[in-house]
Amino acid sequence: MTNESVKPVILIIDDEEALRDGCRQVLEKSGYDVLTAEQGIDGIKLARERLPEMAFIDLKMPNISGMEIIEILSRDIPDTVLVMITGFATIVSAVEAMQKGAYDYLPKPFNPDQLRALTKRGLEHRHLKIETKKLREEKDQMERNFITFVSHEMRSPLVVIRQYIEALNTIAGERFDHDIKDIIERCRKRIQNLEEMVEHWLDISRIENGTLAQQKVNLNIEAIISKSMDEMTPVCRKRGISLETNIPTELPQITGDEESLVRVFTNIIGNATKYTPEGGKITVTCQHDEYYINATIADTGKGISPDKLSLIFEPFFRCGGKNEKYSGSGLGLTFCKKIMESHNGCIAVSSKEGEGTTFVLTFPCQIDPVEKASGLIS
Ligand SMILES: Nc1ncnc2c1ncn2[C@@H]1O[C@H](COP(=O)(O)OP(=O)(O)OP(=O)(O)O)[C@@H](O)[C@H]1O
Ligand SMILES: [Mg+2]
Repeated sequence: MTNESVKPVILIIDDEEALRDGCRQVLEKSGYDVLTAEQGIDGIKLARERLPEMAFIDLKMPNISGMEIIEILSRDIPDTVLVMITGFATIVSAVEAMQKGAYDYLPKPFNPDQLRALTKRGLEHRHLKIETKKLREEKDQMERNFITFVSHEMRSPLVVIRQYIEALNTIAGERFDHDIKDIIERCRKRIQNLEEMVEHWLDISRIENGTLAQQKVNLNIEAIISKSMDEMTPVCRKRGISLETNIPTELPQITGDEESLVRVFTNIIGNATKYTPEGGKITVTCQHDEYYINATIADTGKGISPDKLSLIFEPFFRCGGKNEKYSGSGLGLTFCKKIMESHNGCIAVSSKEGEGTTFVLTFPCQIDPVEKASGLIS
């Protein structure tokens, strides 16, 4: 961290003594602290120790080239603004240096005004970059805190309200007439939906801060699909939808967190049951090659229009908006996408309105033999 009230430190790495001295004089007169290094290696050491605000680096030097220095410093001390000093004949290299992380280049010969102007501009750029980074970090932190705070603050009162409603039903349920029972049931359902939303929301924030699905073990995808089928078969039966699987035997293993992957399948099959009319069909199949397993969940439901298809993984998005017939928060697919990403996999969707929707979950199945032998990958 630098203290803005002290003089900005500028490092010059150049094997030409006259250039180093010239730059030092100009910059010191302008109120900067100047460090110089004749050799690239010394310059790198000095930069790592003193973390200068800016460094001017000559492209052509013995031993280590300016390009390599730029590459190392932009990786090690990214807050330092790097400028390549270069001859006219090497503009192409200057462009390459900028691709490697340099902020700008200074063609030789240059005069004091050019050096002062570029230094001033570079320092302003650094200031803005640091401010932006700080603001982004603060925003991310606020978002994380907000989600956790709201979820916790909402969760406990909801549980209490639900328990009161259950108690009310137990104590006095018999005495209520049909209308009152109906109102109480509506309240219970609404509370349940809210609770589910808060749980989903909390889970998403847990995936984001890395506390959900952290420990990954070797798993058989057949077992995951079979568990989700056990959960979803009664739902499908109730809705008059057939649920079929076609899974090859001897699939390669995947690496993952079983519980969250079962939830990915039940979420997607659950969606298919909600958005497929009675008499429809849901099919779960798997294919694999050496590197990937694709699990496909296809339904014969109402489909999703092309303009909405790219939005369905966004938090709270529901194609029917507030008029969606079935209850839900629009967080299910956000959860699925984040879980798949935390497994180095991905989720894709295709759909035709009136014909159906197909989700494809891609899992990497190639496992490092050393990790495989340990059986536990975290
Ligand atoms: N199989 C499907 N067929 C048609 N529409 C679908 C299908 N799956 C998802 N959708 C659409 O995508 C939207 C987002 O799905 P998502 O699972 O994120 O939320 P949800 O099911 O509405 O609520 P939640 O999963 O949080 O209970 C759904 O509201 C629905 O409009
Ligand atoms: Mg859903």
